[in-house]
Amino acid sequence: MALQAYTLSPCVLTRQGQGMKGLVLSGGAGTRLRPITYTSAKQLVPVANKPVLFFALEALVAAGITEIGIVVGDTRQEVRTAVGDGSAFGAKVTYIEQEAPLGLAHAVKISRAFLGEDDFVLYLGDNLIRDGITELVERFATAQPDALVLLASVPHPERFGVAELKDGQVVRLVEKPAVPPSNLALVGVYLFSACIFDAIAQIQPSPRGELEITDAIQQLITGGKRVEPHIITGWWKDTGRLEDMLEANRVILERLEGRIEGEIGEDVRLEGAVVVEKGATLRDCTVRGPAIIGSGTLVEHAYIGPFTSVHDRCRIVHCEVENSIVLADSELNSIGARVESSLIGRGCFVGRSTTRPRAHKIMIGDHSRVEVSD
Ligand code: TTP
Repeated sequence: MALQAYTLSPCVLTRQGQGMKGLVLSGGAGTRLRPITYTSAKQLVPVANKPVLFFALEALVAAGITEIGIVVGDTRQEVRTAVGDGSAFGAKVTYIEQEAPLGLAHAVKISRAFLGEDDFVLYLGDNLIRDGITELVERFATAQPDALVLLASVPHPERFGVAELKDGQVVRLVEKPAVPPSNLALVGVYLFSACIFDAIAQIQPSPRGELEITDAIQQLITGGKRVEPHIITGWWKDTGRLEDMLEANRVILERLEGRIEGEIGEDVRLEGAVVVEKGATLRDCTVRGPAIIGSGTLVEHAYIGPFTSVHDRCRIVHCEVENSIVLADSELNSIGARVESSLIGRGCFVGRSTTRPRAHKIMIGDHSRVEVSD
């Protein structure tokens, strides 16, 4: 038996041995989520007051994967501070520095020392898969293909990497095709054997200067490797843009279970699933769930509508907020119209002007967006 095993290729050998590893990508430029990403990692923007990245780590651990590498870029320090050594998640985390966002396949390539010959899950740190990846990981372990790609049926496949299937296998991948061969888009989770490193070694940077993972997978297919599809039926999202973040927030809040640990003063109406964290204070207000109010936050003379996440140490006073995410240490005060479908960064102030002349007085960062109602 031992002699036989030595005749196998390196990637086949390991697949009979070690457990799987996880590789979570948390670098990148995050241009679509500016200005938030000028000062913060997009993977750390919270939905239902929990960073998107934490959902990825939890999904990996739930699937039995505890040895996790996190690829980091410019926001390395913030990611390290948030995740630490991974023990809070029941994982052991290794950080892998990427000097520039040179592509998903580049991130895999520089993680070779961490991944060794093991099978691994590549998980894009800004993607949210509501129902986790356990089924996918089990299927990979049983079927033992060279790669397993997660696909979802989407209304506009021309905006994604699209897979063409034949006899239950992926036979071609095309990036943002003008005429899509199917409506099956690549979702941000992939399972690979170590064969992917040979494929990456054979590809060149794309016209946008990145080593593309779709090119590497196409290279696997061209080289006769077995690439299997797994079609996801549950909800998923690439949270790259504001609308996606708000949708992710809504979907996660939909499953919120109410919990009141903060201080509820007089004239407070709570409707539906509402979480009020310890140290939060509510007075003279209505909170219509699903909604979550973070620790140390004050809500007074206000209305918080469905699908709103207010983070820690905020002040929501004399105003109405709905379908929005408010990050930590921000204040919304005495705003005439309801604030809706908004993402407010950290330490912001939005409020009524008290000095003359009465006018909109605005200081916002580059690439910010403000829409006034009248
Ligand atoms: P993308 O969303 O494709 O890229 P991006 O983060 O640069 O965003 P934008 O298009 O808005 O500028 O990246 C998917 C995930 O992979 C995301 O979590 C960032 C991460 N990533 C890396 O870690 N390294 C890389 O080289 C790239 C391109 C992305």
